[in-house]
Amino acid sequence: MQRVLRFPKEFLWGTASSSYQCEGGNKNNQWYRWEQQGHILSGEQCGAASDWWRQAERDFELAEQMENNALRLSLEWSRIEPEEGQWDTTALERYRAMLVDLRQRSIKPIITLHHFTEPLWFADRGGFTNESNIHFFVRYASCMVEALHDLCDFWMTINEPNVYAVQGYEFGVFPPGEQNIVRTLNVSRALLQAHVEAFYAIRRLQPEAQIGYCLHYRLFDPANALSPLDRSVASLQETLFNWSMLQAAESGRFPFPVSTLLSPIAKAAGTRDFHGINYYTRNMVRFDATSPAEVFGKRFVQSNVRRNDPGLDEDFGEIYPEGLYRVLKAVHQRTRGNKPLYITENGFSDTLDDRRPRAILEHLAMVHRAISNGIPVRGYLHWSLVDNFEWNNGWQVRFGLIEIDPHTQERFPRRSASMFGEICRANAITEDIVERYAPEASESIFGKTQTALLIV
Ligand code: BGC
Repeated sequence: MQRVLRFPKEFLWGTASSSYQCEGGNKNNQWYRWEQQGHILSGEQCGAASDWWRQAERDFELAEQMENNALRLSLEWSRIEPEEGQWDTTALERYRAMLVDLRQRSIKPIITLHHFTEPLWFADRGGFTNESNIHFFVRYASCMVEALHDLCDFWMTINEPNVYAVQGYEFGVFPPGEQNIVRTLNVSRALLQAHVEAFYAIRRLQPEAQIGYCLHYRLFDPANALSPLDRSVASLQETLFNWSMLQAAESGRFPFPVSTLLSPIAKAAGTRDFHGINYYTRNMVRFDATSPAEVFGKRFVQSNVRRNDPGLDEDFGEIYPEGLYRVLKAVHQRTRGNKPLYITENGFSDTLDDRRPRAILEHLAMVHRAISNGIPVRGYLHWSLVDNFEWNNGWQVRFGLIEIDPHTQERFPRRSASMFGEICRANAITEDIVERYAPEASESIFGKTQTALLIV
């Protein structure tokens, strides 16, 4: 008998992407300026990116061929409101055309309103360092929902507020390149406040919509599980990066010690219809008295583990499927099971695609395990449909199911794309799929038993 991990009916299968990384031609946001200042490690420029502004539909067709029923994309605020209070209806029309195209292909659009980029005029007013700017974001969010609610009923306000705050204001590797922990915390708070206000605005305009946001969840495990120092710095990093934002979004209150610096956010409780989960990897953490910027925990990737493409920093380190299960369980428990969960991003930088098929299968097996244990996971969006411009790493990091040659814009579907298509079509991982794409993963996916038929 064929062994099968079946997923629930109406499970959402698809991919996630963002405007700046895919559209091309975006010159009116702070990331373009960052590029011009020479911060992209490879010296590359985003340029035409994956050329979605001109022909996203060509890739939507590939998503349709994989029988995806969902696709997450973001709107580029700097196109829609290029100057404060000026709205570009042509840009809006282009987005409408993309959404219509997706719907004609029976692909549900999931829209992110803010995915790291913002108009220059907004950034120059201090962006989210300045609480009095929040209303600009809420106004833009409201305009978008008014304009597009007939085509979209699934909104994500802000992508990864924790990454935006930490990379931009603590480590200084995203614009505006600051290294200031107090700023980092204030920006985190402002982003959550912006989410809360946008949530109420969207709810009023489209009461039936699903509204949420997504956090980036990373695991931090102690280098030496027996060392109290390693354990405490690992747990502090996990609290600061993952749980502090989640708790504040849930209750309005930040956990100690962050609560000593940030006031609560009014009316935060209940401001989401789902938990959006972006999961990529874990870091090991060792106590290091010389790393105050990393709260005395030095992060590293173990040497004997399966990895994303070599040569990259710990951001794209270990391929650790079990971590996805641990994150799903932790979010479900910490939120007392109050909402469904969606994997809104999960992916691997693997240019040759010789590790991705197994990685996808093993992560999906973890999603299946979570569902079997009563955790209501409703969808999986792979990062990403096509290769795209990977922020500071430019084209050196390849996350696409479909390879792109950025010079010719030619598409080359990787094996992972055909495998993902088979999984979506079957709404299941079958033994046959595993045998053909990653036989070495058979045991980790189905266990040792030869006969069990596993059905959710
Ligand atoms: C971001 C994406 C990015 C991906 C891979 C996520 O944190 O939301 O924009 O491409 O990670 O680095």
